[in-house]
Amino acid sequence: MRVPLIAGNWKMNTTVAEALDLVRAMKDELEKVTDVETAICPPFVSLAPVKELLAGSTIKLGAQNLFFAEKGAYTGEISSLMVADLCEYVIIGHSERRQYFNETGDIVNKKVTAALQAGLKPILCIGESLEENEAGSTEEVLAEQLSLSLAAVVDLNGLTVAYEPVWAIGTGKPATGEQANGTISFIRQSIAEAYGEKAAQEIRILYGGSVNSANAAEFMQQPEIDGALVGGASLKANEFISIVNQTSLIKHRK
Ligand code: 13P
Repeated sequence: MRVPLIAGNWKMNTTVAEALDLVRAMKDELEKVTDVETAICPPFVSLAPVKELLAGSTIKLGAQNLFFAEKGAYTGEISSLMVADLCEYVIIGHSERRQYFNETGDIVNKKVTAALQAGLKPILCIGESLEENEAGSTEEVLAEQLSLSLAAVVDLNGLTVAYEPVWAIGTGKPATGEQANGTISFIRQSIAEAYGEKAAQEIRILYGGSVNSANAAEFMQQPEIDGALVGGASLKANEFISIVNQTSLIKHRK
C-alpha cells in the first residue's frame, strides 16, 4: 500500500516572513492527518527558518531544485549536500526549470543522481507540452523523459514521480481524473518494464497541474494517483489543508 503524498510547490513565492506565516496557518491542521504524508517546498532562503518552525512536526520539507556538483565555484548554486542538511525532499526537473533554465534530460539525470546519493528523496517531474499532447505523442515524450532522467539510476528507492502536463500547470485547466490516471498507469508500466513489477508497484506517482480543493477528490479517487504536487493552491492554507483532508478521506475509505 503506497502512502499518499501531497506536496506543495511554492515556486518563487513568499518572503521568509510570509513563508513562516503560511506554515503557522497550516501546521496544526496538517499535523492532525497521520495517514497522508505532507511536504512543503518553499524557496531556498526560507528552508532553514521553516525547518526550525517545523521541528518535531510530521510535515516534511522539500527544496525546489539543486545543482548536481557537491561544492565549488558555481556562483549562486545550491548543492545536494546543502539541501540534504535541511530537507527530506527535492523537486527535480520541473517543467518551469526545463523551459526557463534550459534543463535538459541529461542535467535532470545528474540532479536526480546527486539527490539520491545525498540521501534526498527526489520528486521527479515529467510532463508533455500542449503541442506534444495534441500531436498524440504524450506517451513517447514521457517514456523518453523518464529514461533520460533515470539513466544509470538502478535503485528507485526514495524516488517519487510527478506527472505534470505542462498545459495544466497554472492554467486552471487540469487534466481530468481519468486522463491523469491513464497516463500515470502508462508511467507505472514503463517503470515496470525497466525496473520490474515490484519497483513499479512501490513507487509513488503524483499528479500536478491546477489541483485545488474543488478538483482534488476527482484525482484522489483514481487508483493509480498516489497524491498531488500542488502549485498555486498550496499558497493558501485552507486550500492545501482541504486537499490533504480529502486525500485522507478518499484514500483510506476502505
Ligand atoms: P499549479 O498547481 O499552480 O497549476 O502548479 C502545478 C505545479 O507546477 C506544481 O509543481
